[in-house]
Amino acid sequence: MPLEINAIGADNRNFGATVTGINIANASDNDIVAIESAINRYAVLVFPDQRIDDNQQFVFSSKFGSMEKATGDINQNNDRRLALDINDISNLDKNGAVLARDDRARLFGLGNMLWHSDSSFKSIPAKYSLLSARVVPDSGGNTEFADMRAAWNALSHEQQNECKDLVCEHSQLYSRGALGFEDFTEEEKIKWAPVHQPLVRQHPTTKAYSLFLSSHIGTILDWPVPEARLFIRDLTEHATRQEYVLAHRWKRWDLVMWDNRVTMHRARRYDHTQARDLHRTTVSSGTKLLAS
Ligand code: OGA
Ligand code: MN
Repeated sequence: MPLEINAIGADNRNFGATVTGINIANASDNDIVAIESAINRYAVLVFPDQRIDDNQQFVFSSKFGSMEKATGDINQNNDRRLALDINDISNLDKNGAVLARDDRARLFGLGNMLWHSDSSFKSIPAKYSLLSARVVPDSGGNTEFADMRAAWNALSHEQQNECKDLVCEHSQLYSRGALGFEDFTEEEKIKWAPVHQPLVRQHPTTKAYSLFLSSHIGTILDWPVPEARLFIRDLTEHATRQEYVLAHRWKRWDLVMWDNRVTMHRARRYDHTQARDLHRTTVSSGTKLLAS
């Protein structure tokens, strides 16, 4: 079966496509080239029915660049369920039991329900994320994506000029802090100290400009904090209007791949007593966006 790429939705917005006719466990070099060209256009790709294990997911992901370690996860050592090459996007403990409502790991994980770009809190942020659904709840728990190219293009020239040279501080302490989660160890506070990222970025291949927004943003350099947060909040509101958003309703064994350089995403609510188990691999963007 030849690789087939079909846009999601009929509105020609070039945001989201399904990829069929491929088993990612034995993707050819030509397939990889076709997928990269599709993601450059559509930013979010859905591969239905990919019955893969963590190793197959890792091998496929690493064809797109160097891999990140899951150093942004809350559990790094004894409590970890998955290898450090795999981000644990679940509500499960290392024995596979559903986390209690007030469990620290669950509360930390709720940060994924705020709009963000993966690893924007790392000095070298993520290029692609690949998320594989191993267990999904009966209802709810969608993942939504927002197109930061469309959001940028819709700004007036005046607004674009105002954003152009701004630099933001990103940290997981900010995104979790916005939800009232302050339960960080001294080690985590050091490890996740804020990093600087430009507010506007350009895609290295397509040259498209986009807004680099994320709930990890805590302030804008040289701005008073409340003014910076209001400005970012307004921009985020604009950038996540329904016309720029795509909702993915998970089926078991879906693999969804997105380009963090031009999108934000968030998880949606579901019944917290049901298991939801997604495994994420993350391809690094390879370089810092700012010199400092
Ligand atoms: C992620 C993430 C959202 C979700 O995997 O990076 O934010 O719906 N996931 O679980
Ligand atoms: Mn994420």
